[in-house]
Amino acid sequence: MSTAGKTAIVPRENLDFGLDGDIPRHWLGGDPFKTRFFDALSVTFPEGERFFISCVRDYREQVSDVSLQEEIRAFMRQEAQHGRVHTLYNNRLKAHGIDVDWLERMQRETQDRIRRHRSRKMTIATTAAFEHLTAIMCHGFVERKDLVADFDPRMRAMYAWHAMEEVEHKAVAFDVMQKVANVGYLRRTGAMLMISFFYLIRTFSLMHYMLRKDGYGFWRQTLLWPAGLWWLYKPKRGLWTGVMGHYLQYFRPGFHPWDEGQLHSYQVWLEVFNRTDDPLEAADGVYASLKA
Ligand SMILES: [Fe+2]
Ligand SMILES: [Fe+2]
Repeated sequence: MSTAGKTAIVPRENLDFGLDGDIPRHWLGGDPFKTRFFDALSVTFPEGERFFISCVRDYREQVSDVSLQEEIRAFMRQEAQHGRVHTLYNNRLKAHGIDVDWLERMQRETQDRIRRHRSRKMTIATTAAFEHLTAIMCHGFVERKDLVADFDPRMRAMYAWHAMEEVEHKAVAFDVMQKVANVGYLRRTGAMLMISFFYLIRTFSLMHYMLRKDGYGFWRQTLLWPAGLWWLYKPKRGLWTGVMGHYLQYFRPGFHPWDEGQLHSYQVWLEVFNRTDDPLEAADGVYASLKA
């Protein structure tokens, strides 16, 4: 196991991204598919983060390693902030006719069922798998200049901050799963296969729902999806295919999240953020540092 590149987990609270401003409905370059892809993720974050916190908290008492205890505390504070900020954004979606409260209620019921009927080992394995998915998505898009160029600057700042913190704490649930819950290879990888399938279905169904609210009926969506799926899955440069190798690392016996190191742009983001206390400037700093 390598922990090269491991960085401190720093909760950053009460940040202002200007999410009450005039963010366009399709804030990612005016593209409904790309925007609703990120919006579908965003809608699942607040309840999802609460689930992750609960599943890690289940093992907290059993953690004897002081530094892991400290990391768990910081992880919880970061995830709570992510939930808070994404809720601010998600509430904007209500004006688009998207019933965020209903979507969250359904998700909460599903998660409650999982926590009632599945073992604690399974729920921490599910959490660790989700944390890997989140971290590799962050590795995959934050440094893609062609992609983030089209983000609304406020959304770019929110996602950059979330991504930096996700990578900071990417090993916490994994370490609890391995060192405290003693989850083995089959359960770890089985959980990953399961959530990869179900989260994909969930994301696509949320996008379908949101696009209908945008006025894209059956035929118009039929025209929209092929280009969108190409954006996600085209060879090498697809948003998802670009991180496929990193995703598959999870199935390697002996894998650890820090094997893949930290984001290259992390130091730039951190330096600007620490100097200015402004997540928008930090994201601009990262953007300016990226090569085309
Ligand atoms: Fe998060
Ligand atoms: Fe996370």
